[in-house]
Amino acid sequence: MSDITREDKKNLELLVKKETVCVPRFYRLYLLWGGMKNQRVPRKESSVHPAGHNVKILVNRVLSLVNRVLSLMGLKLSSAGGMLFFLKVPKVPKDFKQQYNRQLINLKKNNMGFEISQNFCYDLGSHPESYIDYECMFAARHLAARNPTSILDIGSYRHFSIGLLASYKVTILDIRKREPCLDNETVLTGDAKQLDIPSNSFDAIVSLCALEHFGLGRYGDEFDLVADKKAFNEMVRVLKPGGILVFTTTITRAAPSIAFNAHRIYDYEMIRSLCERLDLGEETFFSHEDGQFCSWEQVTNLPKVWDVYCGCWTKAE
Ligand SMILES: C[S@@+](CC[C@H](N)C(=O)[O-])C[C@H]1O[C@@H](n2cnc3c(N)ncnc32)[C@H](O)[C@@H]1O
Repeated sequence: MSDITREDKKNLELLVKKETVCVPRFYRLYLLWGGMKNQRVPRKESSVHPAGHNVKILVNRVLSLVNRVLSLMGLKLSSAGGMLFFLKVPKVPKDFKQQYNRQLINLKKNNMGFEISQNFCYDLGSHPESYIDYECMFAARHLAARNPTSILDIGSYRHFSIGLLASYKVTILDIRKREPCLDNETVLTGDAKQLDIPSNSFDAIVSLCALEHFGLGRYGDEFDLVADKKAFNEMVRVLKPGGILVFTTTITRAAPSIAFNAHRIYDYEMIRSLCERLDLGEETFFSHEDGQFCSWEQVTNLPKVWDVYCGCWTKAE
């Protein structure tokens, strides 16, 4: 350490004062709070939100500032259902900090062509997971088993749909405009409740985390409180006999509700009645609390909180 310059010392002191520890995000509590990604991430310019939304963003920012300070003491403040909790975060081992400091000095001596900015991170443990991983796993498993020649994707996660293009020809329908990114992708911009597609067209239809939003205007579609039912009927219409419909949506064992205009939260009977003209392949649930697929009994019964329904259904030949 003898060749540390005065500037290095200053930087190190600053670093020790400022260091922020990146800890696994406490997804479950966060999700229970209802603070889904759209409340955490600033939306695009075109989005308009009610005042309450901005308050939540502000609260999140204040929490994150407080947590920067608390993380120095190995603590983290989290919020669930409006209550605040202290959680212990993994402490950064001393030798990791020392190594970091040494490497930083080396890097400054020889930056290997990189500009250096300091961002102290310590992300050990398992990968952070979310319900989205499980929805995608469920859909991927059923699509792989079926190996369809034509897929219609309605409003699923963009990354999932792009991944499908590695193996399949995919038609993507979404109310929000997007450009095709590969030759085997056809993009249709339109409303799921009224598809400009002939009946019996696709071997497989996939729709992840979309049904509960249809007709609530959130994504720019026309307000229509029964658009979800209309869209589901359309999916069944354009599915070939013998084809599979894989979809995921919100579910609760408590009373169904609408968080207007973000999403609906369905009960099991509602979902089952949508599927009445189809044959069941497989259905399962994902519990935010347990962070994994779960049985029906483990689905949340907290009011206005949702878990995930995953279903694979077949259209009779
Ligand atoms: C929760 S998002 C699904 C994930 C999102 N595509 C992503 O990449 O994060 C619901 C999707 O459904 C689309 N959508 C909402 N209402 C729709 C409608 N009536 N018809 C077609 N697509 C709709 C939205 O534009 C959005 O992309």
